[in-house]
Amino acid sequence: MSPISSNPVATRIEIRPFTDAPLGAEVWGLDLSQPLDAGDFARIHRAHLDHHVLVFREQHITPDQQIAFSRRFGPLQIHVLRQFQLPGHPELLVVSNVLDEAGRPLGLGDAGHYWHSDLSYKERPSLGSMLHAQELPEEGGDTLFSNQHLAYDTLPLALKTAISGLRAEHSYLCKYEELRARNPYRPALTQAQIDEVRPVVHPVVRRHPETGRAALFVSEHFTTRIVGLPEDESRALLSELFAHSTQARFVYRHHWQDQDMVFWDNRSLLHLAAGCPAHLRRRLNRSTIEGDLPY
Ligand SMILES: [Fe+2]
Repeated sequence: MSPISSNPVATRIEIRPFTDAPLGAEVWGLDLSQPLDAGDFARIHRAHLDHHVLVFREQHITPDQQIAFSRRFGPLQIHVLRQFQLPGHPELLVVSNVLDEAGRPLGLGDAGHYWHSDLSYKERPSLGSMLHAQELPEEGGDTLFSNQHLAYDTLPLALKTAISGLRAEHSYLCKYEELRARNPYRPALTQAQIDEVRPVVHPVVRRHPETGRAALFVSEHFTTRIVGLPEDESRALLSELFAHSTQARFVYRHHWQDQDMVFWDNRSLLHLAAGCPAHLRRRLNRSTIEGDLPY
């Protein structure tokens, strides 16, 4: 293992913001297989708050090294679909359409089919997630990220006023059966799993706990209703917010490269998996860091 530099390393790391997208930056000059010293960590932490998506290129790291890097930002969350944990590493969820020799899925093949913020259905939703590319398809498989600070800032004033103080319910079960009907490899949930993902209520507009910026915090995947509104009004308002929040002008589309490690902020963004042709192999490992109670 290389020694940790005792010199300030800020000059070694290069943060290159994407100039043609409303969020995101590439990070060069950092080897995530090595422990980060305090200077490196502070630089990465700041860049993550500023750009919301960080793309670390060419990271040849092990599952344990991904877990160690993720833990620098907080405790990790274990996904309810235990059957798709990376064996021996419960902190990593396998996101994959690959089947094993027995025809069983290695991972969750249709993760992220709808716009969402990871684990918004938990009382403490995710601070951020990291995906490390293991196998990539020759075509497709992109991930889209939408900036929810911009989405909030650009709402018409009347709509901002209308949603001020409102709260919405989030449920893991919202689209689950619909996804199961389309994907034979998505398992039925046990009662214990259903009990683990009881619906929760969060503000429709949340403040980022570290930057103070407001962000829309509803998603097509997990948000079921606005608390206290008649069903038709709730549905209409959510549809309007969903349509507004994912406009192309707020979106960065990530085209994966070999060994990319992508770290995004679930408090600032929604994301979506664009999908790839079923016959092409796609496999990534995801770690998820626990965040604060939204307010
Ligand atoms: Fe996700």
